Amino acid sequence: MQTVHRTPAFTPAIDTAELSTDFLVVPLFEQDNFGDVPWLRQRSPELDRARARGELTGKLYEVFLTGLDGERPVRAALIGAGTRESFTSERLRRLATTGGLAARRGRFTTLTFLHRPVAAIDAATAAQVIAEGLTLANYEGASFKTSAEGGTWLESVDLRLPSTGDEIAAAVRKGTVLGECSNMARELANEPGNHLTPRQFAERAAAIGAEAGLGVEILDERRIESLNMGLLLGVARGSQEPPRLVVLTYEPAAAAPGVTLGLVGKGITFDTGGISIKPAENMDKMKDDMSGGAAVICAMAAIARLGAPVRCLGIVPMTENMPGGKAVKPGDVLTSAAGKTVEILNTDAEGRLVLGDAVWYARQRGATHLVDVATLTGACVVALGKTTSGVFGTPASWVSAILSASDKAGDRSWPMPVFDDYKEQLKSEIADFTNTGGRAGGAITGALFIKEFSGDLPWVHIDIAGTAWAEESKPYQPKGATGVGVRTLVELALAGPAWNTVEPRG
Ligand code: BES
Ligand code: MN
Ligand code: ZN
Repeated sequence: MQTVHRTPAFTPAIDTAELSTDFLVVPLFEQDNFGDVPWLRQRSPELDRARARGELTGKLYEVFLTGLDGERPVRAALIGAGTRESFTSERLRRLATTGGLAARRGRFTTLTFLHRPVAAIDAATAAQVIAEGLTLANYEGASFKTSAEGGTWLESVDLRLPSTGDEIAAAVRKGTVLGECSNMARELANEPGNHLTPRQFAERAAAIGAEAGLGVEILDERRIESLNMGLLLGVARGSQEPPRLVVLTYEPAAAAPGVTLGLVGKGITFDTGGISIKPAENMDKMKDDMSGGAAVICAMAAIARLGAPVRCLGIVPMTENMPGGKAVKPGDVLTSAAGKTVEILNTDAEGRLVLGDAVWYARQRGATHLVDVATLTGACVVALGKTTSGVFGTPASWVSAILSASDKAGDRSWPMPVFDDYKEQLKSEIADFTNTGGRAGGAITGALFIKEFSGDLPWVHIDIAGTAWAEESKPYQPKGATGVGVRTLVELALAGPAWNTVEPRG
């Protein structure tokens, strides 16, 4: 497989007099008169003519390429930024990705990003999201083509900002780490199921964890059996590949007392549906059914690298969901590690099963606050579409901590209900509950199933079934795995000490 991402070297600078890169990215606002960058109009006489013609609109993420007089840069990309009043850090991040992708398309490896400050975005945040957006642009889907030509990668980036200093340097580093760890998660999610088997996934997680200085444990099938994880083992039974459960630990010296953030990610390396087998069309996409697990692993790496102030625990159950001769069948009853029994009505509802045991295990290992991330339900895609993840949980203060983190991270999320009323749909005649609740509110009953294993801890479930994979490329996002969730989890950990306000669960 070919390299799928690189991290450019960033140099923050103030002076706009001399530019030494080949490519220049400039945000273009609606009704822009370039008052703050008069030299740009001088170096590109075409700009005024294009404006007069109505070609330069400033419409969001629209790209206008123009040549520049003088030595360097040779080319500028003006990227539509909308109105100055509506400009946000999220738009700036996406705009940076758009500019980075435009540079790579033109085979440029060195780039200057000219930041044009607006009141709503402070200097450090701007530096961070630009570095993040450009790193996210330095990514391609996996390639196994033997004739593939090497792509163009951004190597060095000159960031032109109104100020520099330690705070800006730290912000650039944060953006770089967030971008790089999101790219690592995308790389894992893109990998075919025959390459990223559960055992391979565990090895990769261990390597990523070790490199970031995390504690790493790989639990094999025997250890999983001794913990009585009947749900995880039940899903794994249909496969020739043995399951794994990876535990990553982060224990900072000055950790906030009494708090451990437990992050749990769905790690189904391929989901055929099992005996309740999926239709052939689009089944290939189910290689990304470990995106939640990848998000947790790569978020843990970023958390360590950025020195978040809270103890964190990352837990990823890994298995295939296959219809082998020993596979779990509809009507079978499984016993979870928590002791609760589950009647399997549909073997394709496997994510909640492996998460049930993993969430229980996170509690055993001392988690005080839980978040699980999973490509859990098609119903969530129906409800919220392909751009927004569903957030389910309790208490409301914990849900809102996750929503703020997500907002800050630039991952779109929206709250969904977890009223007890829906629990009736999971009633079983013969076991504690079933694993499916029918079509109505399918994303909610999936979440409620996982909630059964969360004890009385603050718990949130993020359904990324719609957001983990981009079917189409967008100006600010190449198609394929998106790395969704990584940055939300990292922002949550960085905000750690503020969770004192999370009240106990009612
Ligand atoms: N991995 C799928 C969910 C999924 C569907 C992710 C589409 C991405 C795109 C999950 O394991 C699944 O199959 N869920 C079932 C649950 C149902 C049987 C209750 C679903 O959504 O159909
Ligand atoms: Mn499934
Ligand atoms: Zn699945």
